[in-house]
Amino acid sequence: MSVLSGVTLILAVLFISIRLVHAIPQLQKRDADFWNVRTYLTEDNSDRGPTPDGGQKYFHEAKFHHHYDGRFAARELLEAERHYTLRLLVKTYLRAMDDLGAETWIMHGTLLGWWWNGHIMPWDTDIDVQVSESGIEHLAGYYNMTVHQFQIPRAPWGEEGSSPDGTTLPHVSGGTVEVASGLGGGLKVPDYKPEMMEEERVQHRRYLLEINPFYKNDSIADKWNVIDGRWIDMSTGLFIDITTLRTNISNPKIMYCKDKHRYLADDIFPLRDSKFEGEPAKIPFAYSQLLQEEYGPLSLIWKMFMGHKFDERVKQWLIDPDWADRVRRNNQRLRLLGATRRRPQTSKPKTALKEPSRFNDG
Ligand SMILES: *[C@@H]1O[C@H](CO)[C@@H](O)[C@H](O)[C@H]1NC(C)=O
Ligand SMILES: *[C@@H]1O[C@H](CO)[C@@H](O)[C@H](O)[C@H]1NC(C)=O
Ligand SMILES: *[C@@H]1O[C@H](CO)[C@@H](O)[C@H](O)[C@H]1NC(C)=O
Repeated sequence: MSVLSGVTLILAVLFISIRLVHAIPQLQKRDADFWNVRTYLTEDNSDRGPTPDGGQKYFHEAKFHHHYDGRFAARELLEAERHYTLRLLVKTYLRAMDDLGAETWIMHGTLLGWWWNGHIMPWDTDIDVQVSESGIEHLAGYYNMTVHQFQIPRAPWGEEGSSPDGTTLPHVSGGTVEVASGLGGGLKVPDYKPEMMEEERVQHRRYLLEINPFYKNDSIADKWNVIDGRWIDMSTGLFIDITTLRTNISNPKIMYCKDKHRYLADDIFPLRDSKFEGEPAKIPFAYSQLLQEEYGPLSLIWKMFMGHKFDERVKQWLIDPDWADRVRRNNQRLRLLGATRRRPQTSKPKTALKEPSRFNDG
């Protein structure tokens, strides 16, 4: 071998090994960069302040509220708007997962809402779903960072205080999937100006499916990454947390999520077919046992909760006028007391409005 070809060989080996090192994918510890997924905001509202997680947490939430994604949210929604947005979130999520063939089902407060009337309860602030291990593998492998677009007619909240009921929720159609190609060049979403947000709401909404790369770590010690994926409404920043139900290898009968919830495999599977918010949805097999364990037996009986009464005729949670009246009188009383006692105001005044606790009302 001549000196020259020896040098060439060494150079070639060096080059290849550099390429190899370069090709090893870096585990990105943060959710996708704001500038790559940006819609209409001019700045990222994610909480990037110093965190105790030591940079281990993948998903980040908005500075102003932990139920919003700061890359897409500029503000907190009003109550009626939030309720409406949550319903669209779960409708589109169920539809999309059905289309993509990922096994998912509803849990916790969402399941309780299903039990009563197949809808989100008016006071709920989030949606709980779980996916199977094969479900998350499927989503991570083929659908990470996909954007799903749904046609949605005009929002019904309109006037202040109007509360969208079961009949006014529009039928969502579409479910077009755009694949965010590699993300280097960003999503193919036009630059939105704030005034276009309303337009966006009227015509269609886009949802981003983002999977946490740490879903692969099945240890409950990975406490900063208990959420395995998110279904994010790109026009409001509200999202659904997706958690994987995992098999405990040393005890396959007891399954768990990284958020430390444990379940008997037989309580979840086989899943049952039902409907939620008008969409085909799966629910855990032993739903009533699960609900009673989590919320107590009265949660399936008691018809007064969070200032609402369940009206059997219309099968809906309606605002309880007695409760509203009690709150008003209570506030009045407290105001009077405050006036006579003249306590020095230290911090913020205590809010007088207090919701009755779950089971001692009535
Ligand atoms: C999903 O894509 C984001 C953005 O590219 C990336 O940071 C993340 O690691 C991906 N998740 C998985 C499971 O590969
Ligand atoms: C999972 O996460 C925990 C906590 O961050 C860490 O100690 C552990 O090494 C991780 N396991 C794997 C397989 O990466
Ligand atoms: C898995 O099962 C073992 C044995 O029953 C138990 O000690 C362990 O805590 C379980 N792990 C999880 C994450 O539930």
